[in-house]
Amino acid sequence: MTEDGEDRRQPAVAYRNFDDKVAFVTGAASGIGRATALAFGRQGASVVVADVAEDDNRETAELIEDEGGRALAVSCDLRKSEEVQAAIETTVDEFGRLDFACNNAGVEQGPEKTHELDDDEWDRIVDTDLRGVFLSMKCEIPAILDGGGAIVNISSGAGISGFPGSAYGAAKHGVVGLTRSAALEYAETDLRINAVCPGIVDTSMMDRFTGDTEEGRQEVIDQEPVGRMGNPAEIADAVLWLCSDAASFVLGHAMVVDGGQTV
Ligand SMILES: NC(=O)c1ccc[n+]([C@@H]2O[C@H](COP(=O)([O-])OP(=O)(O)OC[C@H]3O[C@@H](n4cnc5c(N)ncnc54)[C@H](O)[C@@H]3O)[C@@H](O)[C@H]2O)c1
Repeated sequence: MTEDGEDRRQPAVAYRNFDDKVAFVTGAASGIGRATALAFGRQGASVVVADVAEDDNRETAELIEDEGGRALAVSCDLRKSEEVQAAIETTVDEFGRLDFACNNAGVEQGPEKTHELDDDEWDRIVDTDLRGVFLSMKCEIPAILDGGGAIVNISSGAGISGFPGSAYGAAKHGVVGLTRSAALEYAETDLRINAVCPGIVDTSMMDRFTGDTEEGRQEVIDQEPVGRMGNPAEIADAVLWLCSDAASFVLGHAMVVDGGQTV
């Protein structure tokens, strides 16, 4: 990791089950999604990146290709089932299969308390952060069941403990419940479903959350026992491990990767 936080590490582990496989990552235009898409590419998987932010999403695909990987950018608002379905169909048409999915796209909540939160804002957050994961899984599962594979949903520390931001907290708790329930439904198949619950990670979302000021950043760093924010690549590492054969006995797990924040 460089001082500016850029991840220039070579993968610490070379997994054997990613070559010739296809990964689908939502919210890949930025932050954790981009880092995860790059990590899949470095392990030899073809990567389909999906996001509403078309230009940055295309840039993620180009970064993967610059490193010698195979990638395709698709524009997709995961609140719309027809767009998610089309993105998965494009994935299978282009690469012939789907093996791994990381349902990562999400939006944060402002400072509003529950009684101050507009109904529409509740819907925007829950539609993106919870319903979007459901819609994605609904379309991904039939494709992955063909050959087996794994799904990793991105929840949050706000998915396992209380968080001032009730729509976000409810949605992220919902992602953990959805993950555990679906994991059991497919336990007897070759599809494993897990979640990752990140702590405070240095991304655009965190910039918006902290106002991108020194004081704002320090306030959230003070919540981290390790005394720093996480790097998106450190979350990607957990996603890749959960998709790898090394995690073959792991399902329905909500893996906390948070520098000790919720310990
Ligand atoms: N950064 C953190 O500290 C942190 C902590 C815990 C959990 N998370 C979760 O990790 C995930 C990624 O967050 P990040 O920090 O990388 O954020 P980010 O804002 O950098 O990236 C989120 C991406 O999701 C995309 N997106 C938003 N709505 C979408 C929609 N309707 N359809 C398609 N794409 C959409 C955005 O365009 C963006 O590219 C989110 O689910 C977030 O809740 C982040």
